[in-house]
Formats: sequence, C-alpha cells, structure tokens
Amino acid sequence: MILVTGASGKTGRRVIDRLTEAGHVHRAVGRSSVPPFAWERPETWSAVLAGARAAYIVHPELAATGAPAVIEEFAAAAAAAGVERLVLLSGRGETNAELAERAVQNSGLAHTVVRASWFAQNFTEGLLHPAAGGGAFALPAGTVREPVVDADDIADVVTAALTDSRHDGRLYDVTGTRSFTFDEMAAEISRAAGRPVQYAPVGLDDFRELLIPHVGPDQAEMFVQLCAEVFDGRNEKPGEGVQEALGREPRDFTAFCQAAAATGVWSW
Ligand SMILES: NC(=O)c1ccc[n+]([C@@H]2O[C@H](COP(=O)([O-])OP(=O)(O)OC[C@H]3O[C@@H](n4cnc5c(N)ncnc54)[C@H](OP(=O)(O)O)[C@@H]3O)[C@@H](O)[C@H]2O)c1
Repeated sequence: MILVTGASGKTGRRVIDRLTEAGHVHRAVGRSSVPPFAWERPETWSAVLAGARAAYIVHPELAATGAPAVIEEFAAAAAAAGVERLVLLSGRGETNAELAERAVQNSGLAHTVVRASWFAQNFTEGLLHPAAGGGAFALPAGTVREPVVDADDIADVVTAALTDSRHDGRLYDVTGTRSFTFDEMAAEISRAAGRPVQYAPVGLDDFRELLIPHVGPDQAEMFVQLCAEVFDGRNEKPGEGVQEALGREPRDFTAFCQAAAATGVWSW
C-alpha cells in the first residue's frame, strides 16, 4: 500500500490518478480523509502509516521554519511503522526545504527527493487563478525567470519513484525546459486564453497586504519570506530531473497554456 499525503493537492491528486491507473493499492489522506491526517497533529500519523510500504510526502508549507523538524519526526514515525520508501516533494532554492530533504535522506529508508520549480498549475488551480481571472496577477518577482513546470510531470516522476527502486537515493531537479519571466508567462496565458492577463510586479510589503485577506497574516508572511528568498535569480536555470527520471522532455509551458485554455479553465 502506498500512502499519499496532500492527496487533494496539485500533485497528490495526479499521483493518485496514476497509482489507480497502474493498479497500485494506495491510501489518499488529508485533513478531511477518513482517517484524517494533519501535519500539526502527530496523533493522526500512525493510523495512516499502518500497512504502508511507501509514502509520498507533501507538506503544504515546506518553506516554513518548523517544517524540517516535522518532516524528521514523520520520517521516524514512518520507519517505526515499517515503511520502506519515502518520496518528498521539495522546492528549489528554499533553505528550509533543503533541511527537510536532509531529514528524509538521513531517515535510513529508501528515498527520492523531487525538487520542483514554480508550478504551471498555480495559474489554473492555485491562488493566482482567480487573480488572473481579474486580468492581472501580482507577485514580488520583478523580471526574474522561472523554468515553470507542469504538475503532470512532477506526478509522473513521483509515481515512478514510489513504485520503482531504480529511483532510490536520487534527487531530481524537476523543471520545465525553458525559463520565462512572469511577464512572458502572462503573455502565454493571454494568447491561449484569448484575453489579456497581465503580470503586476509588486514589492514585498504590498504583496503581504494583498495576501493577508486570502490566507491570513501567518501564511502571508511565509509566502513573502519564500518569495524574498527564491525570486533572486537562483532558480532561473532549468534542471534535468524529468529527463533523468523519465527519459523524456518535460511538457512545454506554451503547450500547457493551450491545453489549459481548451478545458475552459480560463473562460472567466
Ligand atoms: N506551488 C508551487 O509552485 C510549488 C513549487 C515548488 C514546491 N512546492 C511545494 O509543494 C508543496 C505543496 O504546495 P502547493 O501549494 O502546490 O499545495 P497543494 O499540494 O496544491 O495543496 C496542499 C495539500 O496539503 C494538504 N494540507 C494542507 N494543510 C494540511 C495540514 N495541516 N495537514 C495535512 N495536510 C494538509 C491539502 O489537503 P487538505 O486541505 O485536504 O488537508 C492539500 O492536499 C509545498 O511544500 C510547496 O512548498 C510548490
């Protein structure tokens, strides 16, 4: 049985689809699953870990200060429950995410780290979707470039790592093939959606004020700190994780936009 945390999220949902299609028994968990699973409630962990041989770890805020300690504790609980393999979703260039990676790498279990860049699905399923629907999305990203990645590619890599020991011990730097400024991403979305969507570069303080009504002050602060850390150019160069894990090229952002527009997700 394969445990999937964050099962309702952008990558978890896609991993579940792939495991189901390939006939792997799995347990999809989150705060409203039965039994429930919550990162801040360790008393919920043993029930979901029982009987699992592998686990996909998605923490909602791996960049947060307390996350590495929680991942370390969870990895120890997984080992105690007899889990053999851990696959961690991580973020590129994030100090706390790297500490969490080390906790998994030092767990004594077989492990794979899937270190991802900015998700294309932030524009279709995440916080930026409604903003883009209003014609503009704001980020404190200036003119920095991101090798934006399709969550379907992440899910393909994660599913391979969960089910095939050839990925044990690997760290995959999972990105798209090309890097775009957020202005260029907005132009791609506009072309595909058939109506103008603009990128509005903002400062960190303005971004915090924009976020607070949506996610509250604590999460807003975490996002601001994360943006301050990663939007400095450190992540501009594409990685090779999809190619290394799957032996194929990642899906292109232009193609992603065309496919997304065809589903009607941008027909606001
Ligand atoms: N989005 C990006 O561009 C990006 C890029 C690189 C790395 N990452 C990393 O990917 C991870 C996921 O981020 P995301 O924004 O894409 O989120 P997501 O996977 O779309 O959603 C978060 C998932 O976590 C679950 N969750 C939320 N709070 C929880 C809690 N307290 N206990 C247990 N489960 C909880 C949610 O399920 P329920 O609500 O059902 O509990 C949901 O399934 C983060 O660690 C992030 O740093 C994201």
